[in-house]
Amino acid sequence: MGLLLQSLSMLILLMWFFWLPAPRAQSTPGSSRSPARALDARLQDFAYRAFVHPKTGIPYDGTVPTDLAGIKIAAMRLRSGSLYRKGVSMYKEFKIPIGVTTSPYVRRLVLVYQNLGNRSMEYYALRDYTYLTPVLGLLAYNASNLSATDLPELNITATGDSISINFVDVQPVPDGAVAKCVWFDLHGNPNFSNVASGNTCLTIQQGHFSIVVYSSAPPPTSISPTPSAGTPNAGPGPSGGGKKNNSKAWIIVGSVLGGLGLLVLLTFLVLWVQKYKHEKKMQQMERAAEGGEALHMTTVGNTKAPAATVTRTQPVLESEYAP
Ligand SMILES: *[C@@H]1O[C@H](CO)[C@@H](O)[C@H](O)[C@H]1NC(C)=O
Ligand SMILES: *[C@@H]1O[C@H](CO)[C@@H](O)[C@H](O)[C@H]1NC(C)=O
Ligand SMILES: *[C@@H]1O[C@H](CO)[C@@H](O)[C@H](O)[C@H]1NC(C)=O
Ligand SMILES: *[C@@H]1O[C@H](CO)[C@@H](O)[C@H](O)[C@H]1NC(C)=O
Ligand SMILES: *[C@@H]1O[C@H](CO)[C@@H](O)[C@H](O)[C@H]1NC(C)=O
Repeated sequence: MGLLLQSLSMLILLMWFFWLPAPRAQSTPGSSRSPARALDARLQDFAYRAFVHPKTGIPYDGTVPTDLAGIKIAAMRLRSGSLYRKGVSMYKEFKIPIGVTTSPYVRRLVLVYQNLGNRSMEYYALRDYTYLTPVLGLLAYNASNLSATDLPELNITATGDSISINFVDVQPVPDGAVAKCVWFDLHGNPNFSNVASGNTCLTIQQGHFSIVVYSSAPPPTSISPTPSAGTPNAGPGPSGGGKKNNSKAWIIVGSVLGGLGLLVLLTFLVLWVQKYKHEKKMQQMERAAEGGEALHMTTVGNTKAPAATVTRTQPVLESEYAP
């Protein structure tokens, strides 16, 4: 009974150990820094490096390290008063109207522009949707210290007209599909809205933006989820979301199965060690019973009783003390 309880508690402990970290890392992207957030921080750093003697209101193109090849960045420094009163008529694909505020308030801010290019899918994988344009980002930071890194984003809010994003080089919308604007907030949560006329999306705040179409479920013939199932009908351009999601699913299934296998193996090991210990203990007890450490027996009347070989206080006659 004790053995069973012990191994059961061991099992629960092991399960806790194996199962807890995986779902936690999956469900809350905000708890630890997600790849997209880490990218934002790196791009802020590299965009700021484009400033040498920056003039306000002029966009400066930055360069990214080789491991981020395919991504384009730019940075523009502005006084927040001028941003509010004048807006920015054109900053890459973004048109910023008058009435945009920042919170918390800073005197000067930097607007960092990101074009994730062929890396869009990598950082903003969107299940069941196909990107028709690269993901663009617009994020605001404190401009007081241009060598600062790991800066928190400022909230920018359009209080009047919306900020518009005029996408160029949009891939043709597949027949029967409806293009949608997608906006990712800083936690990576997507929100969809309708495309305004002429490949334009509207927003009232910062984040990441693109145009997508809902890609219908894979054809019913390919029921078995082989990793190569989605590729034949994938069109040109930044598609193939199904494939990526598929391989992701397989990795999860694989690690869960692997974890389970390990769990079973460890349980067997624990049980075996317990059994071995138990047997060894039994053997020791048997050996002891067979007379290795037998107690000295002494006869008291008709019965045998154990007696110690050494007595701490030798019995003395009371009379010896008597005066
Ligand atoms: C993206 O494009 C750049 C060139 O524009 C290339 O160097 C890079 O390898 C590409 N990355 C991926 C993931 O396709
Ligand atoms: C902006 O940066 C400056 C200098 O680093 C700092 O003094 C100021 O408090 C910052 N402002 C905000 C709103 O974080
Ligand atoms: C600006 O930031 C850098 C890097 O964090 C820091 O070393 C420097 O002291 C800062 N300067 C000011 C004036 O706060
Ligand atoms: C920015 O806005 C978000 C929600 O829109 C809010 O949760 C957050 O506290 C704001 N941050 C600041 C610094 O105002
Ligand atoms: C995002 O979309 C959801 C549902 O589509 C909606 O409830 C929510 O208010 C939206 N969030 C924002 C900030 O627009």
